[in-house]
Amino acid sequence: MMTIASESVGLHLSGQDSAVDLQHVAESSQSQPEQATADDDGAQDFLSDSGFDSGSLLGNETDTLASSILNHRMENGRQYHAYRDGAYWGPNDEKAKEILDFAHHMYLLTLDQKLHLAPIANPQNILDCGTGTGIWAIDMADQYPSATVLGTDLSPIQPEWVPPNCHFEIDDVSLDWTFPPNHFDFVHIRELFGCIPDWDFFFAQAFEHTKPGGWIEIVEHSVCPTSDDGTMGRNHFYHTWGKVVCEMGERFGKSFTIWEESAERIRRAGFVDVQTVEFKWPMNGWPTDKKAKNIGRWNQLRLMDGVEGFMLRLLTQVGGWSVARAQLHLAQMRKELKSYRTHAYLPGTVVYGRKPFSA
Ligand SMILES: C[S@@+](CC[C@H](N)C(=O)[O-])C[C@H]1O[C@@H](n2cnc3c(N)ncnc32)[C@H](O)[C@@H]1O
Repeated sequence: MMTIASESVGLHLSGQDSAVDLQHVAESSQSQPEQATADDDGAQDFLSDSGFDSGSLLGNETDTLASSILNHRMENGRQYHAYRDGAYWGPNDEKAKEILDFAHHMYLLTLDQKLHLAPIANPQNILDCGTGTGIWAIDMADQYPSATVLGTDLSPIQPEWVPPNCHFEIDDVSLDWTFPPNHFDFVHIRELFGCIPDWDFFFAQAFEHTKPGGWIEIVEHSVCPTSDDGTMGRNHFYHTWGKVVCEMGERFGKSFTIWEESAERIRRAGFVDVQTVEFKWPMNGWPTDKKAKNIGRWNQLRLMDGVEGFMLRLLTQVGGWSVARAQLHLAQMRKELKSYRTHAYLPGTVVYGRKPFSA
């Protein structure tokens, strides 16, 4: 059996006019691999050693679709998604999933266990763009049992057992959305920094597919550590770190600065009643305040284990650095994360806004 939820995972091709049931393609590809090998390019991709799919993603051949979605690319010891190969900077292996779940825990600590700040009431349709492990979508489905929660992602890394009102689809959210217009009561975006080439186009899609009176919420943090008390000197490595991440994002064509732009951008898209709530994630447990210290401890752990996944592909593939140089850079970051003299943090924002009732 496939390890993918039969009821809850579908394939939804943005820009295409059909949705394909992933269970069908998965069974098809699993049950006939040898036949597929001999017959077509798509199936050869499925069995290829390279770990990625060079065949068309857009054809009608179900085995090609299956291979595109279920395969992966191995790169410098880490596993990456294959559907829209190269579109996302982060790995999708077990280690990367654990880091995403650490971040989910940190957001719950930050927001005092709330899953969102937008004042949604009786939501029926909820969308989580770039859902990752689906942990937020699953929690939302539990919290709102009468709502249908849909999580979309490039990677099929969501768990098999999920609440019956939670579903996942493989989809590229940066393309045209094929959902019905005026459909979602709530559209949620969290940590899609470095993922979206054109945020204005993205928010225009979100606006069109949100119900009049429905809400959007964007939760993002900066990648540039900063400090308020002068303990992070002008030449501190954290400045280099932030500068390098932002430069890589620019070169990649997907910036990491959305945390400070989202309020303005969703206003431009037409959302109203826009609110911004700021937060700070300390780089380690340096604060004395109990809540901030706890978040800092988690952030230190998340970053110590996570920086390789955050940066290895960007540094080597986008920046052209050697793996050795990249690893040195990551080692320097891990060293700084152990210093409690530097009172640095990552600023972040939760931004939410409403689609006008009259829209
Ligand atoms: C940093 S993770 C955040 C995951 C999740 N939102 C969370 O907060 O736990 C970014 C996720 O976005 C997904 N992603 C990146 N680009 C995407 C795209 N164009 N369409 C759909 N998902 C995308 C990645 O596969 C990854 O799972």
